[in-house]
Amino acid sequence: MTLGTTAWVPPQWSMTVKIAELAGHRGETVTVAGWVVHHRSSGQIEFIVLRDGSAQLQAVIRGDVRARLASRLDQLVQETAVRVSGMVRPDYRNTGGIELEMDDVQIVGDSEGFPIGPKAHGIDFLMDHRHLWLRSPRQVALMRLRAAIIRLLRNFLDENGFVIADPPVITPSAAEGSTTLFAIDYFGEPAYLSQSGQLYLEALAMALGRVYAFGPTFRAEKSKTRRHLTEFWMVEPEMAFCEFEENLVWQERLVEAVVQGVLRECPAELGVLERDLGRLQSVRAPFPRITYEEALALLGRRGLTVKWGEDLGAPHETMLAEAFDRPVFLTHFPVELKAFYMQPDTSDPRLALAADLLAPEGYGEIIGGSQRIHDLALLQRRLVEHDLDPERYRWYMDLRRYGSVPHSGFGVGLERLVAWIGGVEHVRETVAFPRTLTRLWP
Ligand code: 4AD
Ligand code: MG
Repeated sequence: MTLGTTAWVPPQWSMTVKIAELAGHRGETVTVAGWVVHHRSSGQIEFIVLRDGSAQLQAVIRGDVRARLASRLDQLVQETAVRVSGMVRPDYRNTGGIELEMDDVQIVGDSEGFPIGPKAHGIDFLMDHRHLWLRSPRQVALMRLRAAIIRLLRNFLDENGFVIADPPVITPSAAEGSTTLFAIDYFGEPAYLSQSGQLYLEALAMALGRVYAFGPTFRAEKSKTRRHLTEFWMVEPEMAFCEFEENLVWQERLVEAVVQGVLRECPAELGVLERDLGRLQSVRAPFPRITYEEALALLGRRGLTVKWGEDLGAPHETMLAEAFDRPVFLTHFPVELKAFYMQPDTSDPRLALAADLLAPEGYGEIIGGSQRIHDLALLQRRLVEHDLDPERYRWYMDLRRYGSVPHSGFGVGLERLVAWIGGVEHVRETVAFPRTLTRLWP
């Protein structure tokens, strides 16, 4: 066949339409491809509810169509994969305002004894069947919400001059303390999975000004809480010529843009998750800021005494967050509580120019950030104080040798952000295949 001279005739097939887009096809005959959610008959009529990942659709089968398709209809059970054709009709009793008057069905893949039914299952059972559980409406809504949040985070940063730059995942040294490193054998040399791209982003910020990373990070966390994963995704912006205050402004603008964007773009997902929208609507910058010292006083007044220099745990964070209707920055921690690279406050060097952003409603720290040390001698001292081998940070110290400037950045924990915005109890549902202290399956 010579292209251009002979008209090419496509084989017989019909384009499928996504269920979420059917409202624009009222009165037309269309083909939909999806999976059976349930199948029931009521007198002369049969109903099949289908899902295709975009939404659900009720298909109705009547009279002689029912008789013609009877043998195939008999095979339709939960999760049978099908292509169905029919006329799109308005129906105000259904969500989406439409139903399908079905006149044909093809079975693409049959399904026998799907393990997850409408009855309640325990969390361990569901997690062991995560590869199938992902098909349920709540999990689909969470995956869609996660995708929307990623898009909104990236759009904000891309539109504000941040260049995406991808730091390595395999690294020779710790970024966030040596107790949570996953060691790997790198051709006989020790290496680690990245805990944070930050150190490399500092190098990239000196090349590009404003940069960010978006990727997986790893912590061998021995914590079994609803906030901890061993593999989680982080968005990490880093800015040259940026000091502590400006760093907070970027954080609150970013979080406001994401939350307001989700309210605009994800009403269906928030509906499935039964999220209280009022709590999200009040998330507007600027966010309140309280120092570690003020936090201790506030906690003390509410009966939770913490001694200066002690770290704050989940109950403290929850109590602090309860005092505000939007996220709150907790700032100026004692330097001993924080990472080696954090800049001390010049007016009180016992304090680090660091901030954690605490989400409302008990979701805890969603962002950790700080101004970084830009003075070489101070950085060298800090490495030694933290028992880190300066030789392994030789390249990082070069950044303080050649045109060092004040710079700052932060890391947004994606799963915690999704858990808070979606109003879900545990981060394990906000990532497709969670990795935790006790779970590496499926
Ligand atoms: O506060 P972290 O440890 O900060 C850093 O890693 C910085 N180097 C980031 C930077 O400045 N570029 O982690 C940042 C955020 C936390 O606020 C939290 O939301 C999330 O990452 N996070 C975790 N999420 C799930 N499971 C874990 N084990 C997490 N550890 C931290
Ligand atoms: Mg932190």
